[in-house]
Amino acid sequence: MQSPWIAPSILSADFARLGEEVRTVLEAGADVVHFDVMDNHYVPNLTIGPLVCEALRKAGITAPIDVHLMVKPVDRIVPDFAKAGATWITFHPEASEHVDRTIGLIREHGCRPGLVLNPASPLHWLDHVLDKIDMVLLMSVNPGFGGQSFIPSVLPKITRVREMIDRSGREIRLEVDGGIKVDNIQAVAAAGADTFVAGSAIFGAKDYRATIAAMREQIRKGDRG
Ligand code: DX5
Ligand code: ZN
Repeated sequence: MQSPWIAPSILSADFARLGEEVRTVLEAGADVVHFDVMDNHYVPNLTIGPLVCEALRKAGITAPIDVHLMVKPVDRIVPDFAKAGATWITFHPEASEHVDRTIGLIREHGCRPGLVLNPASPLHWLDHVLDKIDMVLLMSVNPGFGGQSFIPSVLPKITRVREMIDRSGREIRLEVDGGIKVDNIQAVAAAGADTFVAGSAIFGAKDYRATIAAMREQIRKGDRG
């Protein structure tokens, strides 16, 4: 298993002070910036695009940016995000007509591709592409909003994907996104995740550093060894 990463979702940051928020959360111990892109079409909300990603890079943010695309269609926007400085680009297979082509497109543009599965999406989406992706992102809420409650039935799904990844022998991150807090992150780690998205739990806290440290402590307790 790869070393655990904490990925704060900037969806819950103060957008009026975004650069400062991202800098602060990275200084507080975050590993990667989770960047939620919503289009008011694939999901019922509208957020940020490549211009904002580029602005963060121009402001001196060098940490990996984990772009979670909740947009349909997917392919049109991939080159723009690559140019804007995205490190990872993940997308929902239901939003792309040609999943294998989208994965290739992300890779060709120099980014690391990942597939995102909603709580009700079956794992068979992974059957023919696991050897081509660098991340599986399991949603533990329905995508569209921050601050929703964790759906516990995702836990056994995490364990199944962990087994698939281990069997593949490839280095594939297993990220979980939605409703993760200090009091449930241990269970998510124990189920087999190595990358933990948290929006409201971190940006809603007074002390980002203490919250991230508390999350790491819980992850250690949940470590499957
Ligand atoms: C939901 C987004 C999540 C969300 C997480 O569609 O993909 O990244 O912002 O926020 P919390 O941690 O508040 O559930
Ligand atoms: Zn997300």
